Order: sequence, then C-alpha cells, then structure tokens
Amino acid sequence: MSVTINDNYLLLQDSYLFVDIARRLENFQNENPDKNVIKMGIGDVTKPLSKTVIKAFKDAVDEMSDFNSFRGYGPEQGYSFLVEAIIKNDFKPSGINIDTDEVFISDGAKCDTGNIQEIFGLDNKVCVTDPIYPVYVDTNVMAGRGGSITNNGTYSSIVYMSCTQENNFIPELPKEPVDLIYLCFPNNPTGTTLNKDQLSKFVEFAKENNSIILFDAAYESFIRENDVPHSIYEIDGAKEVAIEFRSFSKTAGFTGTRCAYTIVPKELYGLSSNGEKISVNELWNRRQTTKFNGVSYPVQKAAEATFSIEGKKEIKENIDYYMENAKIIRNSLSNLGLNIYGGVNSPYIWVKTPNNMKSWDFFDLLLNEANIVGTAGSGFGLSGEGYLRLTAFNTLENTKEAMDRMSKIKL
Ligand code: MLT
Repeated sequence: MSVTINDNYLLLQDSYLFVDIARRLENFQNENPDKNVIKMGIGDVTKPLSKTVIKAFKDAVDEMSDFNSFRGYGPEQGYSFLVEAIIKNDFKPSGINIDTDEVFISDGAKCDTGNIQEIFGLDNKVCVTDPIYPVYVDTNVMAGRGGSITNNGTYSSIVYMSCTQENNFIPELPKEPVDLIYLCFPNNPTGTTLNKDQLSKFVEFAKENNSIILFDAAYESFIRENDVPHSIYEIDGAKEVAIEFRSFSKTAGFTGTRCAYTIVPKELYGLSSNGEKISVNELWNRRQTTKFNGVSYPVQKAAEATFSIEGKKEIKENIDYYMENAKIIRNSLSNLGLNIYGGVNSPYIWVKTPNNMKSWDFFDLLLNEANIVGTAGSGFGLSGEGYLRLTAFNTLENTKEAMDRMSKIKL
C-alpha cells in the first residue's frame, strides 16, 4: 500500500507563474552576475510601510511585550477595531451598508480567492476572464473543477471570457449558464477596468442565472476615473450575488506584512445537494474558524492605521508615486510606437508585443537586451499570448532607467 495523491494536481502547469519567472531571472543573473536587472514582473511594492503605519505596528508589538496588554488568539474573523474602520472608510462613504459579521479579515486576497471555492460544490461551473490571475483557475483545478487539459492548454470544464484589444478587454457575458464567476477589476493582468454599466451587466447575469460573482478588488485604490466602481456593491442588488475581496498589499504596501479582507454578504445563499438554502456567509465563517486563526494583532493595528488621517495621506502619496511611474511607462512605450493598455486606473501596463512576437520571446528580448523583467502575457492564459505585463511598482529612478533602456533596443 502506498499513499495516493490528489491527481488533480497533475493537471496543473509545472510551476506557478511567478515562481517560473523568479527561476528564469535567477538563471539569467547566475549567467550575467554583472547585469543590473530592473524588476517589473511580479506586482510587488517597493516603497516601505508609511510612518504612521509603522508607528501603530511598533506600538502594538510593545503591547505584546507587556503582561497587561498582551494578546493571545484573536477573533478568527479579525478584531472589531479593524472591521469597523473598514466599514466606515471603505464602504460607508459610497453609501454601501456592510454589517460587521460580513467582514472577514485575512492574510491575503490570494489566499481568500484561492480558498473560497472550497465552500462550493464540485459540480459548479467556473467562469473566468482570459487572461486571468492564475490563482482562480489553479485552485479550482486542484479541487477537481477543471475537467481535462485541452490541446491549447485550457481546461475543458472552465468557461473562459476572452479579453483582448479586439473587445477593448471588456469580457462578453458567458453564453451558457455558469455558477462561479471570477472578476478582477481593475484587472490583473491587463490593468483595464469596467465602468458601472459594464459591471451591472454581470450583476444582472448573476441574478438571472443564480450565479455568484467572486469580485477581486485588490487594485481599487489605483482607480482614478469617476465612472469606475471601487466596489461591486456600488451596483444595486450586488450584495445578493457577489463576494468581494480587498487587500492592503498594493494599497498600503502590505505584500510582506500580509493583511486583506473579504466581504461575504448575508444575502448570499447556495443550495445543498438536497435542495436546502444554505447561507454562504455562515459556511465561510465555519471554514475560517476551523482553518484560520486570524491575522496577528500588530498587523491588524498597522492596517487600522492606514485609515487614520495621516495614514490616508501617506498611502495616497505612495499610490500617486506608483501611478506617476505608470504614466511614465505609458507615455514612453506609446512614444516607441507600442500599443499599450491599462496603467490609468491600475499599476499594471499591458503591452502588445511588437511584430506579433510571442509573449515569452518578448520577455526574453527585454531580459537579455534591456535587463528588464516583465511577465509574459501568455502566463495568464491563452488570450494573453502576444502581450507582456509591466508593473509600475518599481522606483521612479528604475522606471525611468527601464524606459531609457527600452528606447535603445531594436523593437
Ligand atoms: C501579480 O504580480 O500578479 C501579483 O503580485 C500577484 C499577487 O498579488 O499574488
């Protein structure tokens, strides 16, 4: 007798996209130790945590050193000080009512968007945009909702909504009923957005088809244009059909510190196999209290500080800094004659490869000739072929240097 494995894992690509990119970079650096590579691949921030956030973080660490203020396990769903700050700052101003027991603090939107599928049946039809943040697909494949791998590398049971320059990166509604619809806007990887009307169509579709939308809003703080919703709950009735994921990672530089949250409305129901209506909120609560012990107290205090007057100001300055980089990238690449998308309401710029190059060929060209790391668009799915993603999260100096280097290579 031998232990058997979860065969679904054998249907996954060999490695996770960003692990693959890190390996390619490491190989390049081993072969070219003298080259100064500029990283514009994974969407990781470069600016440190802001002053106010650090102070709250440190003060909370001090509290942990004192017998009287020390804290052990916290609530699995997060401390009420943070939950209340989230509701007051992220939703109330747009007239969205969220109850405290609809907010679940976690250690990341990646974990939450990956874990959420666990509470839904394996027979649900999953629908994703293409290109897509790989976590949504991979976690469903791990669970057994992928079906088989087709010749072009897609999964037979997953419904893909292609987003390319031909449709302005606006996904068309699925042509068949689907159950779980993953949407990420502002989009990772394309950096494009949906306006209120476009998002409303998905909410209507979900209502008509009894689907649930899993809305990843991790990049909402980069939105600059008025007609772009920050939350899916800005759309009437969306609380009946949508779960929303938010993160402090890109907003406030918490990629290494880890804090995020998920809104699971109490209006949401799914059916059990015997047809009983089951609260999705209660199931997620059951899942979290069993599998998760909450985010550490100092991290939650640091996250709370992002909502203070000073904290908000500092965070806005950091976001403005990255958005200035995005503008520089957009302008420089347009001047080079490249077709570029995103970067207006998002830290990601989606570049059409020149001369119809394959994504990975363009990735190699940039790495070898300009010592810049991007992310090959095809790593995000079939419709990402022929594109490459750059992030605006590097420093201003490196961003300018990268653009200068790109202007000197033959495209
Ligand atoms: C990305 O580069 O797509 C993101 O950094 C990935 C993530 O947030 O997990």
